[in-house]
Amino acid sequence: MRSHRCGEVSEALLGQEVGLCGWVHRRRDHGGVIFVDLRDREGLVQVVFDPDYQESFKLAETVRSEYVIRVVGKVRSRPEGTENPNLKSGKVEVLAGSLEILNRSETPPFPIESDIEVNEEMRLRYRYIDLRRPVMQQRIRMRRDITRFLRNFLDHHGFYEIETPFLTKATPEGARDYLVPSRTHPHSFFALPQSPQLYKQLLMISGMDRYYQVVRCFRDEDLRADRQPEFTQLDIETSFMNEDQIMSLMEAMIRDLFRETLNEALPDPFPRMTYAEAMRRFASDKPDLRIPLELVDIADLMAGVEFKVFAGPAADPEGRVVALKVPGGGDISRKDIDDLTRFVGIYGAKGLAYVKVNDLGAGLEGLQSPILKFMPEATIRGILERTEAQTGDLIFFGADKARIVNESMGALRVKLGQDRGLIEGGWRPLWVTDFPMFEWDEKSSRWVALHHPFTAPNCSEEELKQNPGQALSRAYDMVLNGTEIGGGSVRIHRTEMQQTVFGLLGIGDEEAQQKFGFLLNALRYGCPPHGGLAFGMDRLVMLMSGASSIREVMAFPKTQSAWCPLIDAPAQVNDAQLHELGIRLRKSPAAEGGSAPSM
Ligand code: AMO
Ligand code: AMP
Repeated sequence: MRSHRCGEVSEALLGQEVGLCGWVHRRRDHGGVIFVDLRDREGLVQVVFDPDYQESFKLAETVRSEYVIRVVGKVRSRPEGTENPNLKSGKVEVLAGSLEILNRSETPPFPIESDIEVNEEMRLRYRYIDLRRPVMQQRIRMRRDITRFLRNFLDHHGFYEIETPFLTKATPEGARDYLVPSRTHPHSFFALPQSPQLYKQLLMISGMDRYYQVVRCFRDEDLRADRQPEFTQLDIETSFMNEDQIMSLMEAMIRDLFRETLNEALPDPFPRMTYAEAMRRFASDKPDLRIPLELVDIADLMAGVEFKVFAGPAADPEGRVVALKVPGGGDISRKDIDDLTRFVGIYGAKGLAYVKVNDLGAGLEGLQSPILKFMPEATIRGILERTEAQTGDLIFFGADKARIVNESMGALRVKLGQDRGLIEGGWRPLWVTDFPMFEWDEKSSRWVALHHPFTAPNCSEEELKQNPGQALSRAYDMVLNGTEIGGGSVRIHRTEMQQTVFGLLGIGDEEAQQKFGFLLNALRYGCPPHGGLAFGMDRLVMLMSGASSIREVMAFPKTQSAWCPLIDAPAQVNDAQLHELGIRLRKSPAAEGGSAPSM
């Protein structure tokens, strides 16, 4: 039907006849001549209908936006002064000889432009039209380019792409499972994989040596801008490599990717930071290094003060007291401070004390703060020295359980970075290493794995048993500009160690056999040392394309409430289907006093 794509028509084709198919982007009638901007995946070209070609001219008068047409015509130069430098095809146009309307279109619900103000539900309901917008076409193309590059890199380095099942058993990655009832095994359910973690470990035991997969993962969790219920991982595993070798290869891949697709040079090697240091300086395990603000611990200075708000957490082994200096923050108004106090309140902080340094040379007189009266001068001087405060600065304080201080002050640091325009340009990748093996979960009074239960500790089994709270793991996360884009670890490859870890996690022998018996067995049959990681492809593409959410780089995402407005899924099923599956529905959760799922 066509000889070229619209966006490919250029001066190289001058004088030639071309056949083009595409969508009518815009039609303009100009003093007897009709111009149609014809659009396809590759871009726009201007088509001219001249009254001399009566038949096609008459037909051209009837075309509307988004009609699908076929044009045969001759490529010619645009008259001087009418070139469009913004278009690849901007120096030429096509003088139409014939026109065929392949299909009509109703008026689309929103314009096919990059910048539109349309609510997201509408965009998702008409996703097939939304995806026609140039910006979406660019993102999808970039995603294709990135995936292709990564596949090539891994193929080149001896990784096999191997598919693993979707109908499987629960893989613990910290979220809820999506369950699928089995018809052939009544009362039994498959779980959709939260990741292919256990299959890829089994593939190492199979001697596949190096594996990767561009794979969908399913997690029923609370959604945010960078989370979806189904998302894509670039999942990787290798035998006989330690964490340094795995990290080196993976960062080389990401460096090459950025150089090839964005022409950006990332640091070689990526900086590394321990989890402890990241928490201490940035109160986050995925610090955005583009923000030049750091927390400073001051518990020792506060230990003896009268002010309970600070003295309490300072004396509590689980407490934390920090200062966050905002250079030049003296201009932050009372109202802004109130807003920020409410902001940290979301994370459980009970207040947000501050000191404004109006004049460093003027001693206490030069300071302005609601907490000065509670603290000895020596403490205040100590804080000013440790934060290296200057005239014009403002210092915020957080004091509470470490978890609350980290969450609230970590978020405050990022917010101040954004609100005050402090975020430096460029790309700041980082490896975060030496995570704790376990975290104590207050609610269930037990240890939970910080990564997953298959991550190897970097100590002996004995040491691990003696002091699980102190043990570090051989896990690593790749962080880019404050987003965790990938994470992985060296795995446990011996049955005994795996049993010990299950035991510490409160998974008894029987439960371990029932859930992971296949793994414990497999580890007995010559399991090689192995490790790997998984990248969040959606997050990577989001960052590389400058999109604000991963939904912007997925062809068919779900809304924040895990609903698809286009297909209208999830949906109810008929009684016959339920009967066949041996499932009977209870009354709606609302009728039973629970809460109905929000739409
Ligand atoms: P993890 O759970 O850290 O590790 O996931 C790996 C990466 O996947 C991305 N990611 C998500 N992206 C979008 N929506 C979500 N709901 C979501 N959850 C995670 C993140 C994250 O870094 N099996 C291990 C990997 C391993 O150990 O090899 C795993 O799944 O970018
Ligand atoms: P109050 O004694 O509650 O009036 O608090 C005095 C100052 O300390 C106010 O500026 C509060 O915002 C601040 N503040 C109270 N609790 C905390 C806390 N846990 N961390 C940091 N600042 C706090």
